[in-house]
Amino acid sequence: MNLFNVYPIYDIEPVRAQGSWLWDSKGEKYLDLYGGHAVISVGHCHPHYVEKMTEQLRRINFYSNSVRIPLQEELAQKLGELSDCPDYTLFLCNSGAEANENALKLASFYNGGKKVVAFTKAFHGRTAGAVAITDNPSIVAPVNYNAHVTFLPFNDVEAIRNHDMTDVCAVIVEGIQGVGGIQVASEAFLRAIREKCNETNVTFILDSVQCGYGRSGKFFSNQHYSNLQADVYTTAKGMGNGFPIAGVLISPKFQAKYGMLGTTFGGNHLASAAGIAVLDIMKDEQLMANATEIGEYLMKSITEIGGYKELRGRGLMIGIEYDFPVEELRNKLLFDHKLFTGVAGKNTIRLLPSLAVTKAEVDLFLEALSKEIRVTA
Ligand SMILES: Cc1ncc(COP(=O)(O)O)c(C=O)c1O
Repeated sequence: MNLFNVYPIYDIEPVRAQGSWLWDSKGEKYLDLYGGHAVISVGHCHPHYVEKMTEQLRRINFYSNSVRIPLQEELAQKLGELSDCPDYTLFLCNSGAEANENALKLASFYNGGKKVVAFTKAFHGRTAGAVAITDNPSIVAPVNYNAHVTFLPFNDVEAIRNHDMTDVCAVIVEGIQGVGGIQVASEAFLRAIREKCNETNVTFILDSVQCGYGRSGKFFSNQHYSNLQADVYTTAKGMGNGFPIAGVLISPKFQAKYGMLGTTFGGNHLASAAGIAVLDIMKDEQLMANATEIGEYLMKSITEIGGYKELRGRGLMIGIEYDFPVEELRNKLLFDHKLFTGVAGKNTIRLLPSLAVTKAEVDLFLEALSKEIRVTA
């Protein structure tokens, strides 16, 4: 049987990884500034993570949600503390799309509405509900199209203020758009959403799958603005440092009911152990502070190198937009300098390294970028 061929891939086979580094099957070493798409939060194969996962695997790795799994409670308690949402409750699932599906269900159960407001260039995942609220017709199959979604312009305060919210259950937005090209939601825009949702009893969902979990330097990117909370946060990617786990953080205004949400794999022993290990490492190693410090250093240094059209982002979620397609630049960084980076659209390099990346490591990227930009100029 062949694989269903949906991914354009690089001819590189990573066989080992440590911290921010990967080694391929030919023994070549690469610096990973992409984190496998924002997933590697605490560094590849972190010793504490490996130890906790191995220990858990030897003990018990799965039983269904029909029994007590105290690891889930430990995870929820630690997540509440580190995210500064101690009074929220947690529903565990397996992927970002699934977290968003469950967030939409909650919102719809809550006020009975069936419409959703999303924003231009949004990406919320590929399952039925999540892809319907994703602003990319090329990945939306006819079966996913419905009349329930309105896309308003991202960061447009007036558009959200003036929108008719009849039958709307949720407004969903990424705190920093990832696939959309590292577009930071402005404070005024998020406050306008908050106000509109308050006025109309609509749920404010902050998709924090990519920009959350400390990536921006705060646990959730809206926490850069004071006194501004979403009703529901969705998380995945960095939550398990590569083990599939996702979460929906739910404000106290929602009442749980048996059977309302559910999943086979969500919150299993091994996934919960991964989630706990990640939170422990983030706290012990102060990785949010590191994301802020290294992110600011990167932004300053990229500004000095220049040659770009726009530099956007926060913490370790950075987009460098050029006025030319970046495919060649990205290939040079990868094949000549052995540096993994990401991309958004055609013209934007996307940096999503581990939150533990060091100054010495990002200096290697800055040196390479500086050289390649000088050659291009
Ligand atoms: C903001 C955002 N939401 C949702 C998703 C979907 O997550 P998953 O691929 O885990 O379903 C992604 C994935 O890239 C994302 O960036």
